[in-house]
Amino acid sequence: MSYQAEYNKSIETPEAFWGEKAEAIEWFKKPETILSKDENGIDRWFADGEMNTAYLALDYHVENGRADQLAMIYDSPVTDTKRKLTYRELRDEVAKFAGVLKSQGVEKGDRVVVYMPMIPEAVVAMLAVARLGAIHSVVFGGFAPHELAVRIDDAEPKVVVTASCGIEISKVIEYKPLLDSAMEKSAHKPNACVVLQRPEVTATLIEGRDIDWATAMETAEPADCVPVKGTDPLYVLYTSGTTGKPKGVVRDNGGHAVALKYSMKAIYNMDAGDVFWAASDVGWVVGHSYIVYGPLLAGCTTVVYEGKPVRTPDAGAFWRVCAEYGCKALFAAPTAFRAIKKEDPDAVLLANYDLSKLETIFMAGERLDPPTYHWTVEKTGKPVIDHWWQTETGWSICGNMTGIELKEPKPGSSTVPVPGFNVQILDTEGNELPAGEQGSIALKLPLPPSCLPTVWGDFERFRTGYLSEFPGYYCSGDGGYKDEDGYVFIMGRTDDVINVAGHRLSTGEMEEIVAGHDAVAECAVIGINDPLKGQQPVGLVLLKNGVDIEEDALEAELVALVRQEIGAVACFKRAIVVQRLPKTRSGKILRKLLRQIADGKDYTIPSTIDDPASLPEIQEIMGSHGLVSA
Ligand code: COA
Ligand code: AMP
Repeated sequence: MSYQAEYNKSIETPEAFWGEKAEAIEWFKKPETILSKDENGIDRWFADGEMNTAYLALDYHVENGRADQLAMIYDSPVTDTKRKLTYRELRDEVAKFAGVLKSQGVEKGDRVVVYMPMIPEAVVAMLAVARLGAIHSVVFGGFAPHELAVRIDDAEPKVVVTASCGIEISKVIEYKPLLDSAMEKSAHKPNACVVLQRPEVTATLIEGRDIDWATAMETAEPADCVPVKGTDPLYVLYTSGTTGKPKGVVRDNGGHAVALKYSMKAIYNMDAGDVFWAASDVGWVVGHSYIVYGPLLAGCTTVVYEGKPVRTPDAGAFWRVCAEYGCKALFAAPTAFRAIKKEDPDAVLLANYDLSKLETIFMAGERLDPPTYHWTVEKTGKPVIDHWWQTETGWSICGNMTGIELKEPKPGSSTVPVPGFNVQILDTEGNELPAGEQGSIALKLPLPPSCLPTVWGDFERFRTGYLSEFPGYYCSGDGGYKDEDGYVFIMGRTDDVINVAGHRLSTGEMEEIVAGHDAVAECAVIGINDPLKGQQPVGLVLLKNGVDIEEDALEAELVALVRQEIGAVACFKRAIVVQRLPKTRSGKILRKLLRQIADGKDYTIPSTIDDPASLPEIQEIMGSHGLVSA
């Protein structure tokens, strides 16, 4: 079937389309209702189906001839360790760890927070939670205690699972003190914390609360898969919104399994037995969908890589892993390739590796800039596919369907809408715009399976944040346009979310932290272009009257504050003092204008501006600090 025929079917007859795709997974009880409305009036998929995602990811394959096939390859250049697990071995470890969680009282619907680095046990923990029909919430290891505490308070987990440390390039990060600090800050107290002791660090365990992973596994009774409804949640994954409070994106079991299984062939052209490598982190949505669930649902072998694209040990790391394990597809963020390109511009290291098994390179997480696209195509000789997606959807909204029909790529475009996603470009009034015109990118309802049905514990936030701006559509928060051929170009966020090295961060949250400093009267944090990380946050700070502080000292204190509250991953490294911030007469900071100034773009002075003289002044200050792009 051609892409167009497949796409049209998905939009014209979504129930028939997804009902058919649902046949590809082994339900305990097949759904009779494909699409229905929940109590909030939200479209839901497969409400009366019964299944278990961990069963589909592991037991199903063990029972159907893949028991001895590799399910996971762990490759850790930072610890010089490699480990391979077959489907049977992974299933057995998951069943046992599910037993550990069960003995701590974890039942269907309970939450378990997982705060772990990129090690096999992180995947084991996630699947063990899913096995019990419970709900995992993985917190990225680079987040500071405050961020972890906020998530613990929102998800209210019965158990937290962690490791003694994570390993970054040449530094060991102790996780346990971070967890202990988060637990002091959080109002909610889990029953227990399971701690995996890694050889590099032995964490001190708190008696009565902390449990040693290895000891608990020795005596654990394997636990069976607990059937859940298609609409029961599999996980909650927090993502940055425009305020300081992250949003808990809820993922259903049924729709997620159906959509990911479909995507593995349709988007990535993967078959059972193939090796798939997503060089992301289990703390992000890409890690959830394409390190853990997608490849395992499809019977592939997934690679869990604990390392970086560069400096572990060199810029040949990606090529080494692809060659060593025969990866058929590599999926990573453009920033990773920019890092490789910076260190090895001629890709000299590539010549050391046989990439004949690698068929396609996929990129997402941020805009794939044309120079990085061209470099990667030229050096590897492989098709490079940009695809656009969000934590909220769990899989890509636009892409090039390599398993259906490979379209001619256009640099700068994430190609065409994926079947199921009715992508429209809207003006501020909600009218659909013709080709070539830029506007807000919105998805006409119903959303396909896997997309969030609510924000954890806060349906109102889901409604107001995503559904109310354009009635009948989901508002993506991204802006862009379609061309005459229907190709979609994503031009960036229309809100205060930024993307730093493929990590989604909220400038609003950083503003709240910076504004908390004693010397600061007011501030704006904006994302400016960065040649390596795509964007980088910068604080523009207005001092309180009478405050006397050296600008460098203030910058250092603000940088330390953001690092302490959010984590090093925020990459907040610049803060400058300004005399005035451009505002509207009603007092709203004109952040978009500040971004335009930083990007070196022409701007028109809005009629609503309170003090037009503030603009050239701030432009000059930003320019003198090297914060205006040429
Ligand atoms: N745990 C603890 N700290 C972490 C961390 C983790 N899991 N991940 C990152 N950090 C820290 C880093 O150590 C660094 O700290 P520092 O300021 O003390 O040096 C900081 O957060 C920034 O990290 P990072 O963005 O990884 O920058 P880097 O300079 O170490 O590496 C790249 C640059 C481009 C190689 C790296 O950003 C990269 O691999 N990017 C791809 C990311 C990715 O896959 N994103 C995808 C989602 S699809
Ligand atoms: P996250 O929820 O962390 O996956 O981040 C989602 C956001 O990252 C999107 O809303 C976009 O702003 C950006 N993004 C992801 N993939 C792409 C892409 N291929 N092109 C442009 N932006 C992207």
